Amino acid sequence: MPDRFCRYWNCTSAAAHARRRQRRCFLSAQAAAAGAFALRLVWQDACESGNAVIDREHEELFGLANGLIDGAAHAEEDPATLPAALDELLGHGQRHFAAEEGILAELQYADLQQHKRAHAGLLRRAGFLKDQVDAGKANLGAVVRFLAQDVVARHMMAVDRAFFPLFGRSAAGAVEYTLH
Ligand SMILES: [Fe+2]
Repeated sequence: MPDRFCRYWNCTSAAAHARRRQRRCFLSAQAAAAGAFALRLVWQDACESGNAVIDREHEELFGLANGLIDGAAHAEEDPATLPAALDELLGHGQRHFAAEEGILAELQYADLQQHKRAHAGLLRRAGFLKDQVDAGKANLGAVVRFLAQDVVARHMMAVDRAFFPLFGRSAAGAVEYTLH
């Protein structure tokens, strides 16, 4: 049966919802006993590229993204939390992208320029989202979609995977996703 999780993933039917539940992915959405909703990005071994610096920073990014999702979920009670969490995530993202590009440049990664453009696009969208948050116009769905779909699913778990072979890991594969 579709639930709040599906609203973020645009499930349109019970069958689509079931497919989402079965899909291999990286997210865990947990509904607490009290009925409160929480979406968590869960770091797993399958997320690792094989480079210790990149993996540590990616894992930190997951943590900051979870903080931001929490901030979005409680924006009404505590309006200052979301902008602060977004600032922290933006700062980490900028530093991480620069560090990752430096590592890939040292290894003469063939798709570096394309990868840099992907990073720049994410930062532009993050800046736009921040402007919306600062103006009180962003909603939880927009924040979660950006983090879970744009940053994690499309970039870290797809675009980034293309350089995993530089560190002896496969570019193929997916990460388990669980919905409780
Ligand atoms: Fe990247």
